[in-house]
Amino acid sequence: MTSLVPLLEVTELRVRFDTRGRRVQAVNGLSYRLDAGRTLAIIGESGSGKSVSSRALMGLLPPAAQVSGSARFSGVELLGLSERQMRRHRGADIAMVFQDPARSLNPTMRIGTQITEAVRAHTEVTRQEAHNRAVELLQLVRLPAAEARFHEYPHQLSGGMRQRVMIAIALAANPKLLIADEATTALDVTTQAQIMELLAELQQRLGTAIILISHDLGLAATYAHDVIVMYAGRAVEYAPASRLFKQVRMPYTRALLGAIPRLDRPSHVELPVTPGQPPDLTRLPPGCPFAPRCAHATDTCREQAPPFDEHEAGHWWACWHPCAGEAPSIETAGAVLAEDQ
Ligand SMILES: Nc1ncnc2c1ncn2[C@@H]1O[C@H](COP(=O)(O)OP(=O)(O)OP(=O)(O)O)[C@@H](O)[C@H]1O
Ligand code: SF4
Ligand SMILES: [Mg+2]
Repeated sequence: MTSLVPLLEVTELRVRFDTRGRRVQAVNGLSYRLDAGRTLAIIGESGSGKSVSSRALMGLLPPAAQVSGSARFSGVELLGLSERQMRRHRGADIAMVFQDPARSLNPTMRIGTQITEAVRAHTEVTRQEAHNRAVELLQLVRLPAAEARFHEYPHQLSGGMRQRVMIAIALAANPKLLIADEATTALDVTTQAQIMELLAELQQRLGTAIILISHDLGLAATYAHDVIVMYAGRAVEYAPASRLFKQVRMPYTRALLGAIPRLDRPSHVELPVTPGQPPDLTRLPPGCPFAPRCAHATDTCREQAPPFDEHEAGHWWACWHPCAGEAPSIETAGAVLAEDQ
């Protein structure tokens, strides 16, 4: 079910970096909507624009970034807000959890203090109330022995525990949207599943919407309601997860399916997504950016960029020659790629 005003509506988002004479079109006309309590996975290879597009929403890009388009959060335009205006939304409305909690947490400060500070940064509470809320948050994210761990430093915790602390900090102000940018990538497969289950459970309890940024279509298949596949700064396929994995249309998505991690492969290993390199974002080809790596590419593909349209109800893609029929098994997915690359 979709509400009339989406929690987040991103329209034609573009981000360009002009640095040292090079112009990088990192995000190139991205549009999507996200309703409260839903999970949207943004999937794509390294450099496809997943992080930049999400950081743009929070005003977290360097000044060199040229941002255009629109991103309305509960009807309020986020793009173009001053740093002071943006600070009102950051943390309180939208919070982010990153891949590396070791770097995001302050190594010299007890974790309890860090969470208490996050609580006090957003709400008018006494020291005691903030302390109680911090313990409550640690219990909410199921940190074992939360009270005792309150006084520990980040290095005393495992990677999974540190990620739970990061989630507790992100939830300190009850944000309506949580952006998890590769938040479980550095964890082993079992801990990754535990953290994902935790996020799903918190979503049920708190109604938080989640943007799940990942290389991993398997994660999206299990935990997302909707999936966007990005390539070279654009969305190339967008559909409810239940539909996408039954009826993949883009050859690129089909190729990514071959990269779903297996239990015998550690999740943090860089996966062999497809042969060939993603395009140089400073010199995008005139046609479909995937053409040099696609076994189905024709002259039309090389000359004209396929439009990103809603070809079937709720299912968007950008491809002149979409795949037909059921999704391939993981083993055969790679066969859609050009063999000589
Ligand atoms: N500050 C910057 N200056 C110039 N280019 C940048 C900057 N930040 C990002 N880029 C470029 O923008 C493109 C998109 O980067 P982004 O970090 O969004 O990729 P990603 O999809 O998140 O990749 P990964 O999976 O590796 O995190 C890349 O080509 C990157 O080099
Ligand atoms: S438009 Fe052509 S090159 Fe691009 S993904 Fe589709 S078939 Fe391949
Ligand atoms: Mg990234």
